[in-house]
Amino acid sequence: MVLPTVTFSNGHKMPMFGLGTYLSQPGEVEEAVKYAIDTGYRHIDTASFYGNEKEVGIAIREKIKEGVITRDDVFVTTKLWSNAHKESQVVPTCKKSLDNLGLEFIDLYLIHWPFAFKEGEELLPRDASGKLQLSDTDYIDTWKGMEECKRLGLARSIGISNFNSEQITRILTAATIKPVNNQIEMSLNVNQEPLIEFCKKHDITVTGYSPLGRPGNRYGVKNSWDHATIQSLSKKYSKTPAQIACRYVFQMGAAPIPKSITKERIKENFNIFDFALTDEEIKSIQSISTGERVAEMKEAKESIHYPFNIPY
Ligand SMILES: NC(=O)c1ccc[n+]([C@@H]2O[C@H](COP(=O)([O-])OP(=O)(O)OC[C@H]3O[C@@H](n4cnc5c(N)ncnc54)[C@H](OP(=O)(O)O)[C@@H]3O)[C@@H](O)[C@H]2O)c1
Repeated sequence: MVLPTVTFSNGHKMPMFGLGTYLSQPGEVEEAVKYAIDTGYRHIDTASFYGNEKEVGIAIREKIKEGVITRDDVFVTTKLWSNAHKESQVVPTCKKSLDNLGLEFIDLYLIHWPFAFKEGEELLPRDASGKLQLSDTDYIDTWKGMEECKRLGLARSIGISNFNSEQITRILTAATIKPVNNQIEMSLNVNQEPLIEFCKKHDITVTGYSPLGRPGNRYGVKNSWDHATIQSLSKKYSKTPAQIACRYVFQMGAAPIPKSITKERIKENFNIFDFALTDEEIKSIQSISTGERVAEMKEAKESIHYPFNIPY
């Protein structure tokens, strides 16, 4: 099977399906990434915040050493966390990620969130009362550092994550090098059609995170897999609700990146390229979207750069 790809405005290609690794622990993520690559995955998503770049890198390098893939066969994304948004922090932080991964370049380096936290080592800096400490660093400054990462060849492509349409407009106005991708939450619950359309209009591709609605998430958000609409599609196509969800995200024009450390699920989630939902079925899924997100980052709501205060 040839994995579908999308071509960025800068000419680089991204496979339209990948493996997520948030909450994949050191000790389990290496095996998951290796198994995914053996299964045919060619796109791996990690982030400095996940604390697992080292193990992700070990798995990728092992598969290159074994001759299963070359470096150019695999697309690796990692992200800049909100405690390193000052322009001067970006290149050193990117170099740290490269060092962790043991790679010479990152395929896609993203600003993880538009808002910034107090700069320093702490990922989630808190004051004595436990309140998250925000910083007023503007992502426009952060973007200058991202552009430098691209110029230095540390990242082949640069992009954003969790940015809304107004924030994208601001960044496009200020940028010398345009973002090529926006990574956003997309699932049966979260219908991102307006933002995807907006991104397309501006030559920005989209990656869909938490495509399964992160089953068992600590916020108690249910993922709609039991809904009659999903159950009937599952029956019609002999596909699991997880596969229906990934296929939906893919057909909406985003690259799904489901996370799993379970071999059978890694294989199951990938097996979505032998069927297609009809336009009516896509509409019927959209009509049951609840709008409930699993990645809201409510603690950062007070930031002027919080992205979810407008519809999209
Ligand atoms: N840019 C951002 O701000 C952002 C935010 C969130 C996520 N992400 C990225 O997107 C990736 C995916 O999102 P996510 O991890 O939040 O959620 P998700 O992929 O929607 O769900 C992951 C959960 O689903 C389980 N699972 C996987 N396949 C399954 C299947 N076929 N049937 C039943 N359960 C299944 C996994 O369990 P097991 O692992 O135990 O199998 C895990 O608990 C992340 O890992 C991360 O790389 C990015």
